Amino acid sequence: LQLQAGFPKGFLWGGATAANQIEGAYNEGGKGLSTSDYAAYKDPYATGKVDNFTFNVTSKELAEYKENPEKYLFPKRWGIDFYHRYKEDIALMAEMGFKTFRISISWARIFPTGLESEPNEEGLAFYDKVFDECAKYGIEPLVTMSHYEMPITLTEKYNGWVSRELIPLFEKYARVILTRYKAKVKYWITFNEMNMNLNSLYTGAGVLEDLIAPEDKLQATYQASHHQFLASALAVKACKEIIPDAQIGCMINQIESYALTTKPEDQLQALKSNQLNMFYPDVQARGEYPTYMARYFADNDIHVVMEEGDEEILREGVVDYVAISYYMSHVTEAREDAAKLAGSFDSPIKNEHLELSQWDWPIDPIGLRISLMKLYDRYEKPLFVCENGLGAKDELTEDGKIHDDYRIDYIRQHVEQMKEAIKDGVDLMGYTTWGCIDLISCGTSQMSKRYGFIYVDQDDEGNGSLERYRKDSFYWYKEVIESNGENL
Ligand code: BG6
Repeated sequence: LQLQAGFPKGFLWGGATAANQIEGAYNEGGKGLSTSDYAAYKDPYATGKVDNFTFNVTSKELAEYKENPEKYLFPKRWGIDFYHRYKEDIALMAEMGFKTFRISISWARIFPTGLESEPNEEGLAFYDKVFDECAKYGIEPLVTMSHYEMPITLTEKYNGWVSRELIPLFEKYARVILTRYKAKVKYWITFNEMNMNLNSLYTGAGVLEDLIAPEDKLQATYQASHHQFLASALAVKACKEIIPDAQIGCMINQIESYALTTKPEDQLQALKSNQLNMFYPDVQARGEYPTYMARYFADNDIHVVMEEGDEEILREGVVDYVAISYYMSHVTEAREDAAKLAGSFDSPIKNEHLELSQWDWPIDPIGLRISLMKLYDRYEKPLFVCENGLGAKDELTEDGKIHDDYRIDYIRQHVEQMKEAIKDGVDLMGYTTWGCIDLISCGTSQMSKRYGFIYVDQDDEGNGSLERYRKDSFYWYKEVIESNGENL
C-alpha cells in the first residue's frame, strides 16, 4: 500500500464545454438543427425565484418556435462563436497550461437529421481543425458524443430516445466519429449526465414530455434510459474495436443525498435516493441492471421493454472509467416525493450548513470528496471530475479586468478536497472545470451566469463584442496547473 500525497504525475488538468453552449454557427457548415437550437430564452426570474430549468420544450412551444422564430431569442444558436474563434480560444487554454480540453461533438453537425447514410464532411472537418489546434499545444481532447442535444428531426419523428429506433442511428454516428478521429482523440465520454433524465427528458433524451401522459412519465424515463444504455454500450464496444488504446467513460451528475436527520427512515431514504442516481453508472460500469431496481420498478409499475441480446450488449459495453460533474449536494428525508426529488437540483429541504450560489446552488466542497470516495469504493475504476465550477455574475472593470476571487475560492476548495480524496486512495484521472470560457448556461440560457477563467463580452440578448478577457482566476488556475495542484 502506498500513500498518494498530491496529484499524480500526468493528471489531466483542463476545462470543459459543450458544443451547443459554445459553437454558435447553428446553421453553418451543413449543420442540421438540434434540440438545443429550440431552447428559447425564458426569463428565469419570472416567478420571483430563480428557475434553473427553463430549458424544457413542449410540442406546442416547438411548433410555435418553428412558426415564428423571429419572436424569440435562441442563445444556444449563437453560443460564444467558438465555431469561428476556436483558434484564439484554444490558444488561451494553452496559455493556462491545459493538459486536456473537454468538448462535445454536435450530432447534427455530423448527421444533420440523424437519418442520412453518409456524414456531413464539413462538420467532420470542423472538429478535425479543433483537434489539430489542440494537438499543436499538446492538449488532449476529451470528447463527449452526446451532450444535451441531438438532431431535432429525431425528436419530431420518434420523440427522441423513448424510441428504440435511435440506437442504430447513434451507433452509426459513434462509429463515424470514432473512426474519423481515432488518431486524435483518446479520451471519450458517451452521454453527458444520463441521470438527468430524471429531471428533464427533453434536454438529454430529446423527448417532448407533454406527449406522454403524466402517469407514463416514469415508464418513459426508464425506457429512454434503457435505449441510451444500449447505445452507450454499443459505442463503448465500437471504441474498443476502433481505438484500442482509447479510454471511454460514462458520466453522471453526482448529487450526493444526505439524510436530514439520524432517523433510520431518513437514512434509508438517502440511501435509496443515491441508488436512483447511481443506477446510471451502475449499469454502465458493471454491465448489468442492479437488483435494487427490480423493486423500484415493481413499486412504481415500470416495465422496461428489453429485447433478447440487450443484456449481452450491456455486459460487453462496460466503460473504462466513471466521469462526474459535481456542483452540489442534496438533502432528503422520508417523504412521499423523495424519489422524485432524487435527481433534482431544487430540493425543498435546505442544508443550513451550506452557502448558496447566486443561482441558489448549495456549495459543498467536502461533498465532492465524499462522492469520490463512495464512487471509487463502488466501482474501483478511475474517476474523472469532468465538470465543476461556480456560475456567478462577473463585472468587467473599465481597465478590462475581472476580479473573481469568489470563483478562485470555490475552485480552490474543491481542488483541496480532490487532493484529500486522492490521499484517501481514489484513482482520479483529471479535472476539467465547467465552462472554462464563459458560455451559454444550459439550464437558463443566460450568458450572465458565468463559469469561465476567460470572460466573453456578450450579454443575455447576444449583444457584445465577443472579445475575450483573462479574469484573475485565469492566472490563478495557470499556477495551479503549473504546480500540479500544489500552489492553491
Ligand atoms: C451540467 C451540464 O449539468 O451543468 C452543463 O452538463 C451545464 O451543460 C452545467 O452547463 C451548469 O449548468 P448551468 O445551467 O448553470 O449552465
